[in-house]
Amino acid sequence: MRALVIAGMLGGFSLLPGQTAKPTAAMLASGGSQFIQQCAFCHGRDAGGGEDGPDLTRSKLVAEDIGGDKVAPVIRNGRPEKGMPPFALPESEIAALVAFIHDRKTTAESQKGGRRGVDVADLQTGNAEAGKQYFTGAGRCATCHSPTGDLKGVATRLEGLKLEMQMLYPRDVKAKVTVTLPSGETLSGELAYQDEFTIGMRDSSKRYRSWPARQVKYTVDAPAEVHAALLAKYTDADIHNLMAYLQTLR
Ligand code: HEC
Ligand code: HEC
Repeated sequence: MRALVIAGMLGGFSLLPGQTAKPTAAMLASGGSQFIQQCAFCHGRDAGGGEDGPDLTRSKLVAEDIGGDKVAPVIRNGRPEKGMPPFALPESEIAALVAFIHDRKTTAESQKGGRRGVDVADLQTGNAEAGKQYFTGAGRCATCHSPTGDLKGVATRLEGLKLEMQMLYPRDVKAKVTVTLPSGETLSGELAYQDEFTIGMRDSSKRYRSWPARQVKYTVDAPAEVHAALLAKYTDADIHNLMAYLQTLR
């Protein structure tokens, strides 16, 4: 289980000089490869939207973004309660992602139709034995999961792209939050809302409470968030092999 300490994260982002100018080809290439690795399976390879994430090329927020002022906080904080994981990335990588998203938007606006999302045919090309080895070995999946325990029959419950989405970033997993008020009082409950300004929880009596994020200290314990960190580590082959292996768990 990984606890994310997010308190005080606000305020780190600032415009890089010249960022509003045309990004360099190197920056777009780096933003593009990061996007494919960490964002594409939800938002589509061209940011044009996927099974689980909105079309960023038509997003109002992206349209209003200047040099990352709107997009960067979404990447850093995510919207965990809506299926968008937070990404703790260095500023240079965020700037490259922002540049890539704007570039895709420009391209999409100059094209008609022909959007491409996640490719379902890709799901069937892995090697189950290699996936099994990755699961118990390098991927360390077996530290939390068991093919005969919690994942038994997973491929019967979830198929194809649904299984892949759930493997890459499990949805609807409740995160816990512990908030320490300025008075020193500590409260914990289910994470109900989180952005860069506000932290909200539902306490044991299901009452909603929220605070300005700057005025309290808080720790979010989101057990499935490790999946977001794993995204940066998988190769395409790892994902295909894992999918092949998981599909044997019926
Ligand atoms: C597991 C799926 C998933 C992944 C991975 C993911 N996102 Fe998202 N993203 C979402 C969802 C779902 C939303 C919509 C949340 C909502 O409804 O408010 C979203 C929203 C956004 C938005 C705001 C769009 C708007 O109009 O409000 C931006 C920008 C964004 N994502 C960028 C990224 C970037 C960049 C990455 C990779 C670093 C990424 N996302 C990875 C699922 C994902
Ligand atoms: C630190 C613990 C941890 C690690 C490591 C981890 N996961 Fe998970 N995983 C979770 C949690 C927590 C959930 C959400 C379970 C739930 O929905 O109750 C989850 C959900 C899943 C699901 C969806 C299960 C379902 O029933 O919907 C799949 C598939 C999955 N993980 C595969 C993997 C794979 C493959 C790896 C290794 C590459 C991995 N996980 C590594 C904690 C972990």
